[in-house]
Amino acid sequence: MKSKSFVSINDLSREKILSLLETAEKFEENPNREVLKGKIVGSLFFEPSTRTRLSFETAANRLGASVIGFSDAATSSATKGETLKDTIMMVSSYADVIAMRHKLEGAARYASEVSQVPIINAGDGANQHPSQTMLDLYSIKKTQGTLEGLKIHLVGDLKYGRTVHSLLHAMRHFNPTFCFISPDELRMPEEYRLFCKKNNIPFTETTEFNEEVIADADIIYMTRVQRERFSDIMEYEKVKNCYRLTNAMLANTKENLRILHPLPRVNEIAQDVDDNPKAYYFQQAQNGLYVREAIICDVLGINI
Ligand code: CP
Repeated sequence: MKSKSFVSINDLSREKILSLLETAEKFEENPNREVLKGKIVGSLFFEPSTRTRLSFETAANRLGASVIGFSDAATSSATKGETLKDTIMMVSSYADVIAMRHKLEGAARYASEVSQVPIINAGDGANQHPSQTMLDLYSIKKTQGTLEGLKIHLVGDLKYGRTVHSLLHAMRHFNPTFCFISPDELRMPEEYRLFCKKNNIPFTETTEFNEEVIADADIIYMTRVQRERFSDIMEYEKVKNCYRLTNAMLANTKENLRILHPLPRVNEIAQDVDDNPKAYYFQQAQNGLYVREAIICDVLGINI
């Protein structure tokens, strides 16, 4: 019953992270390697997705595998009341590996315990999005030449943002300095601030987002305020347009600064930033293909 799943970034050592990034570099050189011919990848998206689902499915296709699954749980028997356990038990009897996104925190861990095949967490509620973190690390390393000793500014929804939580955990291996920029309502949760303190990771916090605050950043990691995570819509309305990065704000930033965003964006990055060479979010999403090829091969024990 036990298989090698990819559930949480916390499960990965520094060496494992670096090894996956090396494999992803090989896939960037040549994404088309038919090492999964005859394999079937299950793609179960109980929550909406563009980048994660399509890059996992593209990765499977470029590796020579076939894909089964759904992009809308409304078309699955979950609507008839089928449990997650039963769904996973069924699909794991058809597929060789399953990439799954689910709204419940812990759903991926649970699925990995009942599945006959590896589960890859493609996002579980506000908890983790570890394949996103791997592509974030890949993008940081590629643009900065290193993961070590960088100043990383996390901006926006630091409360519900699973991508910033996973990135913070992963960066503990690489001596970062963080600046947390959020409105009070979306402040980085205490458990992550405590995590930084316990791991001697320096951080500052501010509600201000301006030229002065971003002047020394190596990476600005923008996030969307996620309407789907709020139970009270009035709370969302209060903070939805809290910050907006504009091209003018980048005039005095470091030469090698890069702007990342897991996407989708709404208003938090103005369109006029897109043509600035410091904007990297579309390339970042493209890097997801190479990283996800590496992850699928890794959980299936396939070396390239
Ligand atoms: N970054 C990310 O998870 O995007 P999608 O929701 O489109 O998959």
